[in-house]
Amino acid sequence: MSIRATRYVACVCLIGLSALAAGCGEKTFDPPDREARVADADARFQSVRFDTLTWVDDEERALIGNGIYASRCRDCHGTLGRGETDYDRARGLEVPSLVEPEWRMAESLDSVRHRVYVGHAAGMPNWGVGGLSVGEIDAVSFYVLERLRPEILGDESGRDRP
Ligand code: HEC
Repeated sequence: MSIRATRYVACVCLIGLSALAAGCGEKTFDPPDREARVADADARFQSVRFDTLTWVDDEERALIGNGIYASRCRDCHGTLGRGETDYDRARGLEVPSLVEPEWRMAESLDSVRHRVYVGHAAGMPNWGVGGLSVGEIDAVSFYVLERLRPEILGDESGRDRP
């Protein structure tokens, strides 16, 4: 083999080896999919953690909830809680209204807190695992049920309308 040919072979081998090394060093990372994250959050959810929360009064709770709604929920759920925002359309999200008179969660603060904590594979973030404290989740859920709904539905309870 001529010197040139030897060099050529050495060179090809080196390239091959480094490609192999790069291949071995390559880490494959598959982030958990949405369903797995929701299931994980569901396993962590403990209703009792909400039992020890204390608020000065309902006004404080609603005020904090209002701020959280504006910063964390409004893009998707809309100022009035009706969903179907431009933000949703741009992302192909189907966001249900939180202010339907017959909303199935209207009677259950715990269901709302659970959904906010756990999220949903259809695009609802799981706030309990990343983003909001138990107190913040309580406040925003309280705000939706006790302030937003009555305000939009136009009556005291928000639950009595047909
Ligand atoms: C990125 C968009 C997005 C954000 C931000 C978001 N949501 Fe949602 N939300 C969704 C989608 C999509 C659904 C429908 C899937 C489902 O049923 O959970 C949903 C569903 C819900 C539901 C259940 C409604 C039902 O009738 O089943 C509640 C309650 C809710 N969101 C509250 C909130 C609150 C409170 C916040 C703010 C802390 C929030 N969401 C932030 C997208 C979002």
